[in-house]
Amino acid sequence: MIVKVSKTTGVHGELAISGSKNASLPALCASLLTKEWLTLENVPLIDDIYKMLAILKSIGCEYTVENHTVQIRSPNPNHKVLTEVVGDIRASYYLMGALLSRKKKVLIGYPGGCNLGKRPIDFHLKAFHDLGYRITEEEKFLHIVYNGTKKHRLRFVKETVGGTINALFASCRLEGVTVIENASLEPEVIDIIELLNKMGAKIEKNDNHVITVTGVKKLKGTMHKVIFDRMEAGSYMLLASSLPNSNLTIYPVDASLLRTVISVIRSTKTKVKIMNDSINIVSTENLQPLNVLIGPYPFFPTDLQQILSAMLLRAQGKSVIEDTVFPGRISHINELKKLGGNIYLDEPQNKIVINKSDLIGARVKAHDLRCTFGLIVAGGMANNSTIVENAENVLRGYENPILKLKSIGFLIDEI
Ligand code: UD1
Repeated sequence: MIVKVSKTTGVHGELAISGSKNASLPALCASLLTKEWLTLENVPLIDDIYKMLAILKSIGCEYTVENHTVQIRSPNPNHKVLTEVVGDIRASYYLMGALLSRKKKVLIGYPGGCNLGKRPIDFHLKAFHDLGYRITEEEKFLHIVYNGTKKHRLRFVKETVGGTINALFASCRLEGVTVIENASLEPEVIDIIELLNKMGAKIEKNDNHVITVTGVKKLKGTMHKVIFDRMEAGSYMLLASSLPNSNLTIYPVDASLLRTVISVIRSTKTKVKIMNDSINIVSTENLQPLNVLIGPYPFFPTDLQQILSAMLLRAQGKSVIEDTVFPGRISHINELKKLGGNIYLDEPQNKIVINKSDLIGARVKAHDLRCTFGLIVAGGMANNSTIVENAENVLRGYENPILKLKSIGFLIDEI
């Protein structure tokens, strides 16, 4: 897909935010933990969800999709996931934990997804190992089987969203108590804990990032409404802040889960008003530069780093971003340079340095999901028109992005 973006002075009106991609993907896989029907509401209808549903169907799951509600059940899933789609979507790693819980064994291809530099799955495998699973790594496949020598305590060396959810899947139906230390407690992980507990799991968490799982024999079907997409919400908040004449309200959102994004945007002198279940952004002509540290929640999220980078090209001075989660998430830098962006990677420090730039439209190529949204934002800031190639990447994680952008007055067309 190729899109043409024209200079846009501001976005206006109200915009509905969809359900969370990063919570829906593991929630769909949670259906493998029971024979009964799982009903998931507020699932975003985006490419990654359709890909995940296709993989689940290929191993025997049945489902219906109506509006944003997915009803899904897995009467007798196949533990072999050999479909080629696995390599297409990184979240397919959730099939490992989910199938291990249900079948105690899995044979699966290596997960793919956005190329954000190094994205290994060693933490996941170490957790499975500690939970008593034997892992055989072959050239194209991973073969994991339960051998019953579970440790009671496992510790992640670094907070990991996927690793934590996989450890929850793989432990919640094992006998005895499992303590997971240095667990990720991003809002999407907490949403999955709520879902699993509704399904009958016994999972408790504390503020020190320790999760205690008391094994149960069986899980049951339930109904669950997936939380809103913090990343989609943050993307549109940054878009509005990037254009000097915006007045945009997004809903329904829980502002407390966006508090760092809000405080970072406020420090640029952009006005952010928090209402009941909505947030209003009124942009400023005089955007201030920033130093931003990206880290696990509640830090500013890595998923918004590339969009923040684009926005800061309009700030009145030098900004610096340090992404400690995915320092390799830098595919936008060379593309923003093509638009005249004064942005570079300070390599020894691994920091992104961004200076005020007058952007001029050009032809750019989107390399991954968030890079695409960042380039679209930059295109709206640039004089003349910008052509974004490979823009289909945006469809992986944003629901109806072209329609939504147009509805708030952003000048974008598919060509
Ligand atoms: C998830 C999100 C992604 C988000 C990221 C961080 C999904 C589908 N994706 O990715 O959008 O950017 O959380 O919020 O939910 N790591 C290892 N070994 C591992 C696993 C992770 O070294 O086995 C490292 C990563 O390289 C990274 C850090 O740990 O530096 C955190 O990654 P993690 O939280 O696991 O990211 P994902 O779950 O893949």
